[in-house]
Amino acid sequence: MIKKTSIKKIGVLCSGGDGPGMNAAVRAIVRSAISCGLKVEGILRGYQGLIDNDLIEMDRRSVSGIIGRGGTILKTARSPEFRTEAGQKKALNTMKRHKIDALVVVGGDGSYLGASELYNKWGVPTVGIPGTIDNDLHGTDQTIGCNTAINTAVDAIDKIRDTAHSMERIFIVEVMGNRSGYIAMEVALSSGAEDVVVPEAKPDYKEMCSRISQGAKKGKISWIVVVSEGVIKANVLAETITNMTGFEARSVVLGHVQRGGNPCAFDRILSTRLGVAAVEELLKGNYGKAIGVMQNKINIIPLADARKRINDIYQERYRLINMLR
Ligand code: F6P
Repeated sequence: MIKKTSIKKIGVLCSGGDGPGMNAAVRAIVRSAISCGLKVEGILRGYQGLIDNDLIEMDRRSVSGIIGRGGTILKTARSPEFRTEAGQKKALNTMKRHKIDALVVVGGDGSYLGASELYNKWGVPTVGIPGTIDNDLHGTDQTIGCNTAINTAVDAIDKIRDTAHSMERIFIVEVMGNRSGYIAMEVALSSGAEDVVVPEAKPDYKEMCSRISQGAKKGKISWIVVVSEGVIKANVLAETITNMTGFEARSVVLGHVQRGGNPCAFDRILSTRLGVAAVEELLKGNYGKAIGVMQNKINIIPLADARKRINDIYQERYRLINMLR
């Protein structure tokens, strides 16, 4: 195990799906590490870059002008090879060759698993910061990119509402979040959607159609259903609704547009705080940890405990959507 005093060089990587704010995090990690006297290597394409020896030395200027840019200058990827022991050994060799003593990983659930294995199995000092739009990790109120993604989707639905209202139509809008309905719930509530379908609750389409028909009888002329991508495809639900109610329903898939764009101020601040805290925790010798922000304070838990958070806002948000429809 490397002692805290022996860390001279760190590596930083982004892994899994990108999210707005990852660049702000990379900037904060690189500059805070340099301020603390460390050297920094940027690892390209996440864990795959460690396996392939694809690294770039970073200085303060390498992260100039990126705080407000979407995506990640380091690129990101999902690496099936890193899940194998052979892949992990290649990654360790790269770290040894470049004299990288510790790693900061920016990513979601799968990325945390990788960082946790590097620490628990191979003794590599790692810390993780939550970079995923899904907001499905423990130990943090929000993950990097989620807030921007929600705003992007709400902006799109505001536009869809204009045409839905004008043409008196039903729209099914599919948002990201394969196993997490967090984005869908927040988007539904903040866009004034009439219904929401998320992986956390069993959908009742018959009931939904009867609400639509009842609504129409009371003079409701448009209806928006926000659906999480993992539950049902928007076009399939649109067809189901048309068949059950006789009303025309259209589908829109927002997809990867939610992952792009300039991060909002909230995500920039979150990323910056998390990035600096990650470096500081490494220097304290606090390894194998996930850094988050809870109730506006830096919060630190073991990486292994941060994985697979089940969205717990469903009941409360759904009650409001039902009441305000
Ligand atoms: O995990 C982030 C995320 O955007 C999910 O919301 C989505 O299900 C998934 O990534 C999509 O992954 P990909 O870009 O590989 O299709």
